[in-house]
Amino acid sequence: MLKSEQAIKMKEEGMAEVKMPDGQTLQLPVLSDAAGAKFLDVRKLQPTTGMCTFDPGFTSTGACQSQITFIDGKKGVLVYRGYSIDDLAEKGDFIDATYLLLHGELPTKSQREKFNFELTHHSLVHEQLIKFFQGFKHDAHPMAIMVGVVGALAAFYSDSADIGNPAERMRSCLRLIAKMPTLAAIAYKTSIGQPIVYPRNDLSYSENFLHMLFAVPTETYKIDPELARALEIILVLHMDHEQNASTSTVRTAGSSQANPFACIASGIAALWGPAHGGANEAVLRMLEVIGHVENIPDALERAKDKNDPFRLMGFGHRVYKTYDPRAKIMRSVCHGVLKAAKKENDPLLKIALELERIATSDEYFIKRGLYPNVDFYSGITLRAMGIPVSMYTVLFAVARTVGWVSQWKEMAEDPVPRISRPRQMYLGVMQRGFVSVESRGAGQAPKGAKTDDEEDARDAAQQGVDISSMGRLSSGSVSHPILSRSSIKK
Ligand SMILES: CC(C)(COP(=O)(O)OP(=O)(O)OC[C@H]1O[C@@H](n2cnc3c(N)ncnc32)[C@H](O)[C@@H]1OP(=O)(O)O)[C@@H](O)C(=O)NCCC(=O)NCCS
Repeated sequence: MLKSEQAIKMKEEGMAEVKMPDGQTLQLPVLSDAAGAKFLDVRKLQPTTGMCTFDPGFTSTGACQSQITFIDGKKGVLVYRGYSIDDLAEKGDFIDATYLLLHGELPTKSQREKFNFELTHHSLVHEQLIKFFQGFKHDAHPMAIMVGVVGALAAFYSDSADIGNPAERMRSCLRLIAKMPTLAAIAYKTSIGQPIVYPRNDLSYSENFLHMLFAVPTETYKIDPELARALEIILVLHMDHEQNASTSTVRTAGSSQANPFACIASGIAALWGPAHGGANEAVLRMLEVIGHVENIPDALERAKDKNDPFRLMGFGHRVYKTYDPRAKIMRSVCHGVLKAAKKENDPLLKIALELERIATSDEYFIKRGLYPNVDFYSGITLRAMGIPVSMYTVLFAVARTVGWVSQWKEMAEDPVPRISRPRQMYLGVMQRGFVSVESRGAGQAPKGAKTDDEEDARDAAQQGVDISSMGRLSSGSVSHPILSRSSIKK
């Protein structure tokens, strides 16, 4: 995109006068975006005054210009390139939404066919890469595997690593979108000890994903069109969400002109946390902790208690203070899948539905605008579809890859590239003299504490493995600080 095109979107709305403590006044431009939101342009603040803004979590900071996704949290609006998420999920499909995010427009019929062909013909991964999966510990979390193998793609596809070349940039984007379900399914198959299933070019993206997850060589896997459609909607709903933690991580990594596969691996790492992509997994863990419909009132009391860190997972959202528009769509998909899969009597799903019923009519939640979010319903839907809990965040990563590559591409095409380099408010010791080891008092390992090498040796001894050439890998099971607190009943 040209510099002049960006300037059209960003209007100057006059100047703001900032009075400094030394009496100096500074004129800072006020800019407005396409939605009329105002931004104070502080780019000259530090060079002119030496003073920085302080904004941990970047809640008041616009870090980039973008033309991809827009959210109005107060009104519950989410649009991709101007098209509402409701329309895209209900009237469009995976190919429409992916092409739109990546190219900026909905595809014509022939563009759809070409794009679909390109995606399906990039879904295989290098055979050598498949060997990587055998190197992980048997109980490795699939997200730990994904962080590793997606980064490792950089070692296999160096012919698309030149980010200054538009054709190579696009090839990297297509490869990432196309290969993610294949890698995710291999991670799953490896974790359950089943043979891997190769992608099929005659299937749609979501059908293919289900096929690679659930087919076994011993029988024919029949794809349920209702489940494939539900998965397709889940993917479309999760594709992009503005400058969230993982997307900003991808942009930050990309700002150093790093390899695109490595940038997406950094996004996967950021997505893993329970405060972000791990929330749908946390919802299911919470339902397990609640354990029974009878325990819901206790869980609700604990969620309302300010002295108790327990929160209802899958409720509330940093941006949406009304119903998350994705949750509205996901709710009806969820109820449809429960019916189709005849899972309405699943004990955990019963707890979920009762929790939804009680919490949405509870004064505490209504007053604070705390509604079930997309993760609440996607967690339940994925369970009803037979997808294991440890794969929930992986599915999210597969979907979000479309947004990550679109945002990465936009960042790479910025005519005024800048490496991300925030400032800090330093509160540490300024300077002190070096202390020789003999003179240092504290800081030794507590008695009985084990080093990582000792822990590895113990694990390996239990499994009868030679550790001399073994790398250190975390089993990566997600334990949420709130949910890991024993049980709901105090
Ligand atoms: C998503 C989340 C981090 C947003 O937090 P936030 O925008 O910072 O909202 P706040 O923490 O300011 O919460 C506002 C009020 O609602 C309460 N609240 C927010 N989420 C809550 C929850 N899930 N359960 C119980 N109370 C909650 C807060 O305690 C606070 O109450 P107060 O006004 O009496 O102090 C938060 O709602 C949460 O932790 N939800 C559960 C995790 C989750 O589902 N994450 C996925 C998001 S897609």
